[in-house]
Amino acid sequence: MDPKLQTQLAEQVARRRTFAIISHPDAGKTTLTEKLLLYGGAIHLAGAVKGKKSQKSTTSDWMELEKQRGISISSTVLQFEYQGTQINLLDTPGHKDFSEDTYRTLMAADAAVMLIDGAKGVEPQTRKLFEVCRLRDIPIFTFVNKMDRPSREPLDLIDELEKVLGIRSAPMTWPIGSGDRFRGVYARDPSLEGGGELHLFDTGGNASVSKKLQADRIPMAGKSDEELAELFSGESLDVYDGKALVEALKAELELLEFAGDPYDHERVLKGALTPVFFGSAISNFGVEWFLQNFIRIAPPPGPRESSVGVIEPTDPRFSSFVFKIQANMDPQHRDRVAFMRICSGRFERNLEAQHLRTGKPFKMARPLNFFGQERVIVEEAWPGDVVGMVDTTGSLRIGDTLATGKPAPEYEGMPSFSPEHFAQVLIKDPMKRKQLQKGLEQLSEEGVVQVYRQRGLGDKDPILGAVGALQFEVLQFRLQAEYGAESRIERLPFTLARWVRGPGFDAAAFEREDSRCLEDRDGNPVVLFKTEWGFRYARENHKALEFLTTAPRG
Ligand code: G4P
Repeated sequence: MDPKLQTQLAEQVARRRTFAIISHPDAGKTTLTEKLLLYGGAIHLAGAVKGKKSQKSTTSDWMELEKQRGISISSTVLQFEYQGTQINLLDTPGHKDFSEDTYRTLMAADAAVMLIDGAKGVEPQTRKLFEVCRLRDIPIFTFVNKMDRPSREPLDLIDELEKVLGIRSAPMTWPIGSGDRFRGVYARDPSLEGGGELHLFDTGGNASVSKKLQADRIPMAGKSDEELAELFSGESLDVYDGKALVEALKAELELLEFAGDPYDHERVLKGALTPVFFGSAISNFGVEWFLQNFIRIAPPPGPRESSVGVIEPTDPRFSSFVFKIQANMDPQHRDRVAFMRICSGRFERNLEAQHLRTGKPFKMARPLNFFGQERVIVEEAWPGDVVGMVDTTGSLRIGDTLATGKPAPEYEGMPSFSPEHFAQVLIKDPMKRKQLQKGLEQLSEEGVVQVYRQRGLGDKDPILGAVGALQFEVLQFRLQAEYGAESRIERLPFTLARWVRGPGFDAAAFEREDSRCLEDRDGNPVVLFKTEWGFRYARENHKALEFLTTAPRG
């Protein structure tokens, strides 16, 4: 290969970090993202950072539905540079717009930042997103937020990470108090830049308006308890509070020798150990320091398995896969944009790649980045980057590989993730049944909803599944706008689905009061349950069977 390109590739790969933030609504993702962007140079807004409820949205209102709801249904990537590192922060829709796209985006990330509200601990949405990260064992960094508010005991939080998520923690920093008594963090891990130092939180009595970017950093070694108590008491606390904080910190640090693990880079990279940091995004406390350590520890784009073996990101063959398709972002254009994550090689505009699923050539004539409502043509991109591709003819699907070279690598398709909302779609005008069918077929291929067959009914009266309920509205909207089929959605009372396989599987055994057995579009059996309890009961009664949260592949 061209040695110049080889050097360029190696450099560009090494300086990229592509990650997503996983959290439960209200943990502070928007706030943290905004603070991270503060440190970035050029901000490429690809439809991310939702405005806070009260603020005007910073996103463009692409879809009519987005306009009506004032939310961003689908957004993509924030790209910024920090201290020579190119950061691609993939946006994971999390509020009402939580959908299968949120999961799929995680398949395009090389690491995740798990943001936890210190007062709440691990919440349901965080858990689900964590499980998806686990499918690929990507490194997970934990940021415990809102320490300026009364929080739960930090040792409890560490314990919860292990009990609920099954991941061990390496506390990199440790908080000194919380709420009114939050005095900062101790950088306990010696591997940290600034390890052994105290970072004092200067609230000036009002954490929420603190604009301070850098905390005061003081080495802890050699300080007597009295000196520490003095430091911790600061302006707002008296010396007794200071003493209590010193005692608590020292006792906790001792306990941590057992409760937490030492930092181990290899285990972090395998997703077996999560480095934990504490801070307060709103007061910008601990954010820059977190970012600095994150880019140091988090991996650059790595190798991926393909049909022709493992592909290194520095492989000269360009390769990428589609992880999201967004339609009608601009009602004026009425087009579709397929977002792809680049895995290897250099991307250039007008590159002619192969579309591996169809075997046809695909010319990348209109690769785009989005700046608010403006679209900007991308001339060049590298592994780890995300590029939007206009696909007016609808030839791209979620999970498709676009690649060059002989042989061109193909990546395994995107899994289907277990839906939590179910419905039947009913046509208002029976004459439009054909349009409905075509629309359902295409929109499910695009990944808007999943379509299941009822056993024995073929394609008649399919049942729809979605990870987020809003997808049904998106479907309804698009069926009408693009296929002229006005429909009605009737929700069904199921709450979870599992793909089931194993010896002695009998679909009839799941046709019960609280469960039903359907087939996905590849003919795999999928059982829907009304309650978590019903699911557990079934699992207990069918111990030989596997109940999977993603569709079986191959
Ligand atoms: P999300 O995107 O994860 O849903 O969370 P978002 O950043 O919107 O934050 C949710 C709420 O938590 C916001 O308050 C935000 O100001 C607050 N918040 C975020 N980080 C911190 C923190 O470190 N400390 C404290 N005390 N609060 C934090 P809100 O009242 O819902 O909205 P707003 O009125 O502030 O806009």
